[in-house]
Amino acid sequence: MEITNVNEYEAIAKQKLPKMAYDYYASGAEDQWTLAENRNAFSRILFRPRILIDVTNIDMTTTVLGFKISMPIMIAPTAFQKMAHPEGEYATARAASAAGTIMTLSSWATSSVEEVASTGPGIRFFQLYVYKDRNVVAQLVRRAERAGFKAIALTNFEGLDLGKMDQANDSGLASYVAGQIDRSLSWKDVKWLQTITSLPILVKGVLTAEDARLAVQHGAAGIIVSNHGARQLDYVPATIMALEEVVKAAQGRIPVFLDGGVRRGTDVFKALALGASGVFIGRPVVFSLAAEGETGVKKVLQMMREEFELTMALSGCRSLKEISRNHIVADWDAS
Ligand code: FNR
Repeated sequence: MEITNVNEYEAIAKQKLPKMAYDYYASGAEDQWTLAENRNAFSRILFRPRILIDVTNIDMTTTVLGFKISMPIMIAPTAFQKMAHPEGEYATARAASAAGTIMTLSSWATSSVEEVASTGPGIRFFQLYVYKDRNVVAQLVRRAERAGFKAIALTNFEGLDLGKMDQANDSGLASYVAGQIDRSLSWKDVKWLQTITSLPILVKGVLTAEDARLAVQHGAAGIIVSNHGARQLDYVPATIMALEEVVKAAQGRIPVFLDGGVRRGTDVFKALALGASGVFIGRPVVFSLAAEGETGVKKVLQMMREEFELTMALSGCRSLKEISRNHIVADWDAS
């Protein structure tokens, strides 16, 4: 299939998937203001490229929590991937390994941690929802650890996801699971998690300096600036607009990552210029999975890699370290 950029997969997925499934993957909360904003905000940042720099060799490799990966583009957790394609998370895991990058498996994956591990070697993180029954949580974390997962990405309770799922399959199971999520989850549970696992904990969903400081104080190994693909609280800012505040508050003590609306190599560059150590992509994975399975996810990662490499070259950056705030100007910067 001739695809020239990641966004094209959405239209193909829309044609192929049952309407309910497509709506589940594509939609955002309520008015979907934040959903549009996650993309639009990237266009408020322009480049200040540097010229006449020898860019024969571009190094996109980086290290995340001590693990070397081929590029700063990773896979965000998205639930129910088998609804997109029969191979679901297996295909995603294989594509991530082939690309030399990290896959994050959702707590609501349609494949278990053991099944994903069985696809072969790869660096994988496990996204965790915390249930009222902490024994269940402890068991899940232990299983992820045993299956070779390298970090936990902790997500606060979800908003839209399971309600939509019940509309899609009418079983009521999703609402039952949602009901088991513990809304009393708090920062002290980040400490509790550290008592049950030695895996590093990434706090996903930080949008403010206040929470960035709390994440550092509570021993998080990293922060993911995320509005969960605009599927929770509508009218939160685009993640790319919240990023700099969070980066400043983290003071370089822990790495800050970003997800939300990343569709182009230029988006990746902008996030890194604003201080992110890497980005995660969500919907491009499910849409490409729906369109072409493993091949589609591989193509998405390859296209993002090529676009990002070209952006680095055309900006005059040979390594990620060379990408700086001076390489961009945002429309919120004082002139
Ligand atoms: C998600 N996301 C998500 N996050 C999470 O922590 N656990 C989950 O199970 C899910 N499930 C999920 C399903 C679907 C269909 C989508 C689109 C998203 C949020 C996800 O991890 C990530 O934050 C966003 O998808 C990033 O935004 P983009 O790349 O989709 O714009």
